[in-house]
Amino acid sequence: MSITLNSPLDMHLHLRDEDMLKTVAPLSSRDFAGAIIMPNLVPPVDSKEALLAYKERINAAIGNDTFTPYMTLFFKPTYTKEFLASLKDELVAIKLYPAGITTNSEGGLSGFDVDELRPTLDAMAELNIPLCVHGETNGFVMDREAEFVSIYEMLATNFPKLKIIMEHITTKASVETLDKFENLYATITLHHLLITLDDVAGGMLQPHLFCKPIAKRPEDREALRKVALEAHPKVMFGSDSAPHPQHAKENCGCAAGVFTSPIALQVLTELFMEHSNLENLQAFISGNAQKIYTNITVPTKSITLEKKPFVVPAIYGTVIPMYAGETIAYSII
Ligand code: DOR
Ligand code: ZN
Repeated sequence: MSITLNSPLDMHLHLRDEDMLKTVAPLSSRDFAGAIIMPNLVPPVDSKEALLAYKERINAAIGNDTFTPYMTLFFKPTYTKEFLASLKDELVAIKLYPAGITTNSEGGLSGFDVDELRPTLDAMAELNIPLCVHGETNGFVMDREAEFVSIYEMLATNFPKLKIIMEHITTKASVETLDKFENLYATITLHHLLITLDDVAGGMLQPHLFCKPIAKRPEDREALRKVALEAHPKVMFGSDSAPHPQHAKENCGCAAGVFTSPIALQVLTELFMEHSNLENLQAFISGNAQKIYTNITVPTKSITLEKKPFVVPAIYGTVIPMYAGETIAYSII
């Protein structure tokens, strides 16, 4: 039996730049019809020139594949309505990072002052530009996301017309917050549907599973699985595939990020099959995102999978993927 997915979308993706971009972009553009591209380069993508030039480099890296990079800016409270309006056809979302919370986020926000944020967030709401948020405080690592819920609530209440995407949610608390506010949505990664903190640090430390936000407790994973497998209309797939070279992961001071792009569709298919929810995968992988992001145009593309063993390469360029060297049950044909 073969399974066909129409126009799969990855609503949270790190493609990096230069050689790394050339290695990883074709792996996403092979399997997906489009992706929301994170702006946390060094320096961050925070100007029209940087955004347009990055989009060109991505398009050069993917060759002739049918794949649309949906571009984002790194949030700054100084963006004016005129500036954002001038980018309307190129800019799909803006990503907000609290300062220093994760890779290349030093230039992020150091406080959440509604009056300071209002002009930019009001302009985004008027222009139908969603706000993507890395929702963690700088508290105790297991509590950072739960502590951030009150900031999501503050944003959702003060900016009811703004679409707010809670990126890569990892907790039951975030899942419960989703339904409390009409304008809150979420992305869920593959790895957070699969692993808990035990897989990262319960035995020998697994640097290739270390990411931000860190994987949490079994009950959190259950809550994520429930809404993903039922394709709850407010959740969509966002891999947060975040490649780092092997030396930066297998290091004293391991960079955060799990590289999942080349195995994401195969393993999601296996997960949805195992739980007898295959009929919901299309909505989770594309349909919900298209209803949430009403500002995107999605190219037609179909990807076919079969239950046929696939040996995951040990390395792609300098990057070790999740399940490196292991055999997974589904292949893209
Ligand atoms: O694990 C992560 N890696 N989490 C993030 O938020 C950023 C990402 C990266 O850019 O490496
Ligand atoms: Zn990310």
